[in-house]
Amino acid sequence: MSGFTADWLALREVADARARATGLIDRAGTALARHAAPLVCDLGSGTGAGMRAFAPSFPPDTRWLLTDNDPDTLALAGCAPAVQTALADLAANPAPWPAECRLVTATALFDLAAPGWIARLADCLAADRLPLLACLTYDGRLGCVPARPGDAALCSAFNRHQRGDKGLGGPAAGPGAVALLAEALRTRGYRVALADSAWRLMQDRDSALMTELVTGWAGAMEGLVGVQTAQDWRAARLADTQRLTVGHTDLYAEPPS
Ligand SMILES: C[S@@+](CC[C@H](N)C(=O)[O-])C[C@H]1O[C@@H](n2cnc3c(N)ncnc32)[C@H](O)[C@@H]1O
Repeated sequence: MSGFTADWLALREVADARARATGLIDRAGTALARHAAPLVCDLGSGTGAGMRAFAPSFPPDTRWLLTDNDPDTLALAGCAPAVQTALADLAANPAPWPAECRLVTATALFDLAAPGWIARLADCLAADRLPLLACLTYDGRLGCVPARPGDAALCSAFNRHQRGDKGLGGPAAGPGAVALLAEALRTRGYRVALADSAWRLMQDRDSALMTELVTGWAGAMEGLVGVQTAQDWRAARLADTQRLTVGHTDLYAEPPS
């Protein structure tokens, strides 16, 4: 068990689908179409939400290798002739793809990774001259409407929490991950494109996800701001939050030609 339950992944999949930067996904799909039956390796795929989101923009003969270290969620990805799953610990090996791989993808993964792990992954991608499509990397922006006095302190405590060890190479880059990833790839000659993919959640449409987020953030922040402060903030937020913004950035990077 990774701590990312299938219920949580299903809850976020709808918001992720709305937020993804379709222009970058289309570019990845266009490049992929130069190959016959291209193999795409998805890192940290959970139940396969990335595959479901990308597939309509990718060539119809695309084949998939879904990788995760959580057998429970990976089992829910199902199997089909064009879809393989592999249990893989990315901390031990950031590059679980075979030689025939044509694109590496990931969703909501890189903010869990340590800076050193990101550099190792960039080395592996560059060695194999592979493009990378990395979506929904949390970038540190949090916004609540209506604003409350405790928001800034809670937001900064949460971002410190995000820099804890998440099992991917040591203390995570958290909100700094996408900048590190972009820089690591640029220094290896990649052309890197970034696009906003923030969640813009609204109470009347996204209340279940908003409740989960507020509750999770408050719990995560207890050790940093104190239990009472975190729980007071949680109660006030649950009583009245019309909109929540959670910043994410999508990245598409092509290797030097
Ligand atoms: C936030 S979830 C995103 C899952 C999926 N990409 C999605 O969008 O629904 C992060 C995923 O990374 C996986 N993960 C975390 N650390 C890992 C590791 N060391 N090796 C392999 N997978 C890992 C988790 O099991 C989880 O499925």
